[in-house]
Amino acid sequence: MRRKLVVGNWKMYGSLESNKKLLEAVVEGLRDYRNADYVICVPHPYLCQAQTILQGTNIAWGGQNMHQYEAGAFTGSVAPHMLTDFGCTHVIIGHSERREMAHESDALIAAKFESAVRARLTPILCVGETREEHEAGKAHEVVGHQLDAVLERVGIANFAKGVLAYEPVWAIGTGKSASPDKAQSMHAFLRYRIAKHDRKAASELRIIYGGSVKVTNAAKLLAQPDIDGALVGSASLVAEQFILICRAAN
Ligand code: 13P
Repeated sequence: MRRKLVVGNWKMYGSLESNKKLLEAVVEGLRDYRNADYVICVPHPYLCQAQTILQGTNIAWGGQNMHQYEAGAFTGSVAPHMLTDFGCTHVIIGHSERREMAHESDALIAAKFESAVRARLTPILCVGETREEHEAGKAHEVVGHQLDAVLERVGIANFAKGVLAYEPVWAIGTGKSASPDKAQSMHAFLRYRIAKHDRKAASELRIIYGGSVKVTNAAKLLAQPDIDGALVGSASLVAEQFILICRAAN
């Protein structure tokens, strides 16, 4: 039985003051909901604050990105061990916003995934097709390719140490999530593809859905057999909403 996982991705939002209120409210709201796992991925400068408020609670925290190397002359970058120094357990890898804005390639994302595993971080690998690819009927091809790029580099044993997130780009920040049926069908496809490498790993891997997950659609999405949780953007910035989504997973 796969345990549900809800990950909040704050993206580039927050301030010391607003984070404090949000984190404290979420801690309070989820204290008695211990049948699912929760992670909040904050901007790097707030990792220390997240650690201070979340340590000892049932909520973990993580980064939204990291560099693939351990150290070096890489101005503005953050190394894997810098995340673990602040108690991070997870890191988002290959978010579509980074694939697009920072031109992160499949090869780079695979390298980051490998480094995250080496640093004992759980990588949350994002895959997903754009609207154009979706409309051209290429969703499976694109997502399959993104998956294979990482699987081929790290191997199934390391891949199984991560979490996979299906985030159709056309559903992110649009208020229009994939329908539960459509999301389920892609999750089943991903699991099937991984099962070709290792059936047990595929059956144990958590595949979470992201893209306009809201209080109104969370329960239906989470009820699908191959949807093991949610990667939540804007709704993770509002305590009441994030708490209700997490409770739906619980
Ligand atoms: P929204 O929930 O705001 O659509 O964002 C999804 C996302 O990109 C999470 O990583």
